[in-house]
Order: sequence, then structure tokens, then C-alpha cells
Amino acid sequence: MDNEAVRQAAERIKASSTVVVLTGAGISQESGVPTFRGKDGLWKQYRAEQLATLEAFQRDPELVWQWYDWRRGLIKPLDPNPGHYALVEMEKRIQDFVLVTQNVDGLHRVAGSSNPIEMHGTIWRVRCMECNQIFENRDVPIKILPTCEVCGGLLRPDVVWFGEALDERILRTIYTSLQKAQLMLIVGTSAVVQPAASFGLVAKRTAGAFVIELNRSKTAQSFLFDLSIQGKAGELLPQLLDYIDL
Ligand code: OAD
Repeated sequence: MDNEAVRQAAERIKASSTVVVLTGAGISQESGVPTFRGKDGLWKQYRAEQLATLEAFQRDPELVWQWYDWRRGLIKPLDPNPGHYALVEMEKRIQDFVLVTQNVDGLHRVAGSSNPIEMHGTIWRVRCMECNQIFENRDVPIKILPTCEVCGGLLRPDVVWFGEALDERILRTIYTSLQKAQLMLIVGTSAVVQPAASFGLVAKRTAGAFVIELNRSKTAQSFLFDLSIQGKAGELLPQLLDYIDL
């Protein structure tokens, strides 16, 4: 682990009053949540990209619900890890702190982050295909197929699938934050799914933000950033916080 780089990152964070953090599956990996693109990203013989689409759901809602039911069962007993908790603490030390996550596991909320922007939705909500009502639902196992208590329509997970548009209000909030960010921290994402994959560059180009990436491995974007530190989020983030508090 590169201590000098972590110290330098901490200095930059300390000197910034507007910070945006973007997290991906890597931050939850040490809690036991499988990432999407690693070797542990497979469910039976399917890849996430084959199941997380409206077309897949329309073709075979039972199969897609079985996958989500498996993921909900896997995530429900898991706890946040030191990486999630370090971000809760970091938030308290920064004037304008925005946490954006691509994760649907809800672990930032469980850890205590005050207002994580869950840009891909959450696995703990369901939405009616007919009347669009949204319900919180933590049933594990969930009744397959689940139906709406208001209109009887088919319920789907309230997550954003491949090919679907993100909530416009959420996107506006994110871009407003990126455009004034002095610093951006990108944690545990392979940075291949848009639009999140371009947030670092948007912050850099529009706000001149200093962009730091924390990831177990180098990513296709590492070379674009001001600092790219390789290591586990659950170790790097607490270490970063220690330096911030020095
Ligand atoms: P990926 O699975 O694509 O990438 C996870 C990243 O985390 C990789 O770059 C790993 O190197 C890194 N990583 C793994 N363990 C780590 C650890 N302990 N500490 C630090 N880094 C670690 O997941 P995402 O980039 O989040 O979209 O995927 C983005 C989106 O694609 C997801 O939100 C989901 C998926 O399909 C939707 O569901 C719409």
C-alpha cells in the first residue's frame, strides 16, 4: 500500500470544502457482496448484463426475480465494512459532501451516511409495472411473482436496468455537485457503466476537481486521474481518515 499517496490524498481532501464521492461494487466487496465483473460476478450461468434488463424481465420475470431474490438473501445478513464507516466519518469533516453510489445494496444507509444518492435505485424497493407505485420490501425470500397490493400488477425491483434512463432529478443533483466539486473520490468501480463512468472527467473538466481513485486494481481510467491508489477500500478509506485527522 502506498502510504505517501494516501497521505497526499488526505491533504487534498482536508483542503477541500466541496467533495463528491462515487462508490461502486468494490466498496461492498469486503462486506461479502459479490461485484459484477469479477469472477464472483456470475449467478448460475448468467451474467448481470443478461438479467438486469427490461427485456429479460419481460421475457422471463420468474428467472429475473429468482436472481434478485438470491441477491437479496445474500445481502440481507451482511454488515457495512470499515470503508462504509470511514465515509460516514469523512462526511462529518467536510462542509459540502455528496455521496453518490451505484450500489443497490443499501449498505451506505445502514452504515449511517446521511443522504447517499442511490443512482441505480435499491434492491429493497419494488415498483409496480402497471401503476408505478413504489413500496419498500425486505421480504427474503420474496413471493415469486410479487404483485402490487394496490392494482394487482406485476412488481419489479426498483433498480435501474441496462438501457433504462436514470431519474432526471437525481442526475441533475449529481451534475450540479460535480460542477462545483473541488475534489472527487472514486472508490471501487470498474468505471465502465455510463453515466457514472464519466463523472470523474466531468468533475475534472467542468470544476477543475482533483480526482482520486481508490481501487483494488488499476482501471481503464486510472491514467486520467490525479491520483490512483491500489488497495482495498476497507483498508484505504480508514487509513485516509486517520491522515485527515492528523
Ligand atoms: P464492477 O464489478 O464492474 O467493478 C468493481 C470494481 O471494484 C473493480 O474495479 C474492482 O477492481 C474493484 N474492487 C473489488 N474489490 C475491491 C475492494 N475490496 N476494494 C476496492 N476496490 C475493489 O462494479 P461497478 O463498477 O460498481 O449497474 O459496476 C457498475 C454497475 O454495473 C453497477 O452499479 C451495476 C452493474 O451492472 C446496474 O445495476 C445498473
